[in-house]
Amino acid sequence: MGYHAMAINQNTLTIDGKDVYFEQGQTIMDAALAAKIYIPHLCHYPGLPPSGNCRLCVVETNGKSVAACITQAQAGLRIHSNTPELNAVRKTITQMLFVEGNHICPACEKSGNCKLQAMGYYLGMHEEHFHHFNPRRALDASHPAIFLDRSRCILCDLCVRASREVDGKNVFAIAGRGADAHLIVNTDSGKLGDSNLDRDDLAANICPVGAIMHKQRGYVSPIGQRIYDQQPINEIALGEHVP
Ligand code: FES
Repeated sequence: MGYHAMAINQNTLTIDGKDVYFEQGQTIMDAALAAKIYIPHLCHYPGLPPSGNCRLCVVETNGKSVAACITQAQAGLRIHSNTPELNAVRKTITQMLFVEGNHICPACEKSGNCKLQAMGYYLGMHEEHFHHFNPRRALDASHPAIFLDRSRCILCDLCVRASREVDGKNVFAIAGRGADAHLIVNTDSGKLGDSNLDRDDLAANICPVGAIMHKQRGYVSPIGQRIYDQQPINEIALGEHVP
């Protein structure tokens, strides 16, 4: 056996029966996306460090459930991802995310471009199932170009990581724990308008839902021309990466 074949054997796992080659240091999610295999995810974004918050990426290996985005790939792992049981768990998590915030799709300008909504479609979610929390959380319209609606925040932490790791600004943070967890702005006033967030920052453009929105752009894309009108989330996700 040549060196190349040996290396491939040492760095290969399977996902739903398919052989997947990985590089040392990659997570199961990294390896899957590199092999163009979609594992559902909301808080993961290729190119940003993972946070393991949303648990949508749950997969099964060796009889255990693990989060694919924070679990290292290892040779010989046999991973099951696309099973009815795992997709049922993902659907329940998605339903809980819907009721925990105010996700009223017909009245939200993110509709059609929203990953939570697209995930609901992908998982065949037809109703929220749980009672709505109807939270009343602080809105922040103090920034000239960006609007913050915390009642739609799913605490994925993507804006926090994007601002810190890519924009180098550290504009956002998550404060509190459990049911008290909420998105805060790192300024003395706590207002977005006092931060140095720019319209073009990754943190201003990475929100998967309608929590961080650009002003003066609501409903600019007609129905039929929005991201997930054209392609489902499992296809769009395979092309995403931090620019
Ligand atoms: Fe892995 Fe959110 S994508 S926990």
